[in-house]
Amino acid sequence: MIIEPRTRGFICLTAHPKGCEQNVIDQIEYVQSKGNIDGPKKVLVIGASTGFGLASRITSAFGSDAATIGVFLEKPPSEGRPASPGWYNSAYFEEQAHKAGLYAKSINGDAFSHAIKDQTIKLIKEELKEIDLVIYSLASPVRTHPDSGERFKSVLKPLEGTFRNNTVDFHTGKISEISIEPGNEEDIKNTVTVMGGEDWKMWMDALQKANVLAEGCKTVAYSYIGSELTEAVYRKGTIGKAKDDLEATAFSITDSLEKLNGKAYVSVNKALVTQASSAIPVIPLYISLLYKVMKEKNIHEGCIEQIQRLFSDRLYTSTTEIDDEGRIRIDDWEMREDVQAEVAELWKKVTTETLPKLGDLEGYNKDFFNLFGFKVAGIDYDKEVNEMVQIPGLQ
Ligand code: NAD
Ligand code: NA
Repeated sequence: MIIEPRTRGFICLTAHPKGCEQNVIDQIEYVQSKGNIDGPKKVLVIGASTGFGLASRITSAFGSDAATIGVFLEKPPSEGRPASPGWYNSAYFEEQAHKAGLYAKSINGDAFSHAIKDQTIKLIKEELKEIDLVIYSLASPVRTHPDSGERFKSVLKPLEGTFRNNTVDFHTGKISEISIEPGNEEDIKNTVTVMGGEDWKMWMDALQKANVLAEGCKTVAYSYIGSELTEAVYRKGTIGKAKDDLEATAFSITDSLEKLNGKAYVSVNKALVTQASSAIPVIPLYISLLYKVMKEKNIHEGCIEQIQRLFSDRLYTSTTEIDDEGRIRIDDWEMREDVQAEVAELWKKVTTETLPKLGDLEGYNKDFFNLFGFKVAGIDYDKEVNEMVQIPGLQ
């Protein structure tokens, strides 16, 4: 079939297999161009199919020759209906890994459930025996609690009064003011239950109990801090409470891994266009301005550049540099004083009319479509493609 983008708000309902394949190949080539990392050998990535998780899987495999098991929740294709992009990414990642002689298998299902944890552990026991790195990179708006069966929905709300600020519709470039009413205790609880650390801890406890964690293993989850411009709705909002909880969980996981001499980290990453971040109000406008400033300074990075740097300069070095709160910071360039000052200046001035010039709306847009395999250089979108791509190592 011929596949075109069909967008609805901040989601795209279609995905292009060839474009997703090219994205994966580009990321692999980037990692290979940076040379070998003396890194992990047997890696479990939870949330492995897109964004930072996919970049973690690619960096492990092609930077450090690691065997990888990827867990994700993606929609398979059906006749005449393309799969979700993470499905195609995983299919082509595996194809490339297998070609390179690397072990790669995948599990598609709800990572929050006991069943998927059990299935993953069974696979590790049978095939890899043990894991030396667990990446936790889930981003989800909902979680069904595995014990109670209760379904929780996260919300993106401020907590310190009504939040008013500019936001952009990144399809049209139209800037408008939004106003978001503050969340309450219930909103905090729901958001922490979905995006906080409980499930990460459940995974690590289950893996440890099953004896499939290697001596000296590491685990990393991803967090975000960001600028003063977005903090009312992000870091000081309901999602920020969930990130506080995730960050605190790193310490309790490290404690529980003591016998194995294991360690849990949170890495604070840069703001980037992903399916998760395009849904957050205000963030797309911030990213458009941030991209402009960082590209001009030649310090722009995408997911793969961020994670390659995380592995090579932070995680797999003699000492892992951390901040006062014990976190790894690869948002260091985003948070640089000169970068933040220039973004704040642009923020004051930017209007619908000036955004194309002051910001990098075009870059935002391109990255958004790229997530779904569209607008990727070298792909002929007029050509028929087979949507029925299968994931070779899907369990
Ligand atoms: P993403 O949407 O690209 O990836 C989410 C992944 O989670 C996908 O692999 C998806 O299949 C998987 N997933 C979602 N629900 C699942 C479920 N129930 N079971 C199994 N898999 C499921 O998101 P991302 O932006 O890469 O986010 C990953 C982490 O990085 C999040 O913790 C996010 O907060 C953090 N982070 C993101 C940014 C950013 O700007 N995008 C910045 C810093 C940190
Ligand atoms: Na991810």
